[in-house]
Amino acid sequence: MTDITIIGAGNMARAIGLRAIAAGRSVQVLDRSPENAAGLAAELAEGTTSGGLGDVPEGDIVVLALYFEPAKEVAMHYGDTLSGKTVVEISNPVNMETGDSLVVGPGTSAAEEIARLLPGARVVKAFNTTFAGPLAAGSSHGMALDVFIASDSEAARNEVAAFAAAAGLRPLQVGALRHARELEGMQLLVIGLQLNPAYESFDWTTTLKILD
Ligand SMILES: NC(=O)c1ccc[n+]([C@@H]2O[C@H](COP(=O)([O-])OP(=O)(O)OC[C@H]3O[C@@H](n4cnc5c(N)ncnc54)[C@H](OP(=O)(O)O)[C@@H]3O)[C@@H](O)[C@H]2O)c1
Repeated sequence: MTDITIIGAGNMARAIGLRAIAAGRSVQVLDRSPENAAGLAAELAEGTTSGGLGDVPEGDIVVLALYFEPAKEVAMHYGDTLSGKTVVEISNPVNMETGDSLVVGPGTSAAEEIARLLPGARVVKAFNTTFAGPLAAGSSHGMALDVFIASDSEAARNEVAAFAAAAGLRPLQVGALRHARELEGMQLLVIGLQLNPAYESFDWTTTLKILD
């Protein structure tokens, strides 16, 4: 019995895995490299399971800790296997050649494109505005990180919000999955500022947060 499956074994897989363990959730890590998945699982916690993309995602929540193109490939690969599950899509589909636009059109978002590939799943956009370093640490400048959450399924939004809260983060539910467009656009601006030499102090610890 696994609570959360993380697909991918890179920076965000590690950060979300650490938050999941902090939240007391059991984790399965799957990656195209089973060795990398096993390495991350060993780092996270005893009892964390791992495997390759030939293995079935066991978690009720499945996090696609992948770039947009691999996320589409993995969504097509698993297809109906993910039906009924909450699938968390975290990508920033930024055109890295220019750093100035998204690779998805204005009338859609990476999360909505993934949802189109997984009609039986409850797709949630979350974690795209939290850089891996602060997320792994769990906070920034002594404050809980904001996790913006969008999904057409209220139940799935609540599920991811409960996970984020248990992990010491502040969940902010922004509504329907189409709001992934704004979330991806917001982070495009943050990444653009980060790449701009005029803002030298903006780095991978930069955090997007609403102060109240
Ligand atoms: N890094 C951040 O701070 C941050 C913050 C918010 C959102 N994001 C988003 O999070 C996602 C992951 O970023 P990351 O920094 O974790 O990247 P990463 O460290 O490069 O990890 C990417 C993972 O995807 C796997 N992968 C690559 N190509 C694949 C393919 N064709 N099929 C299956 N798996 C593949 C990689 O495996 P290999 O190691 O074998 O290549 C690796 O496990 C991206 O969409 C990014 O936009 C990142």
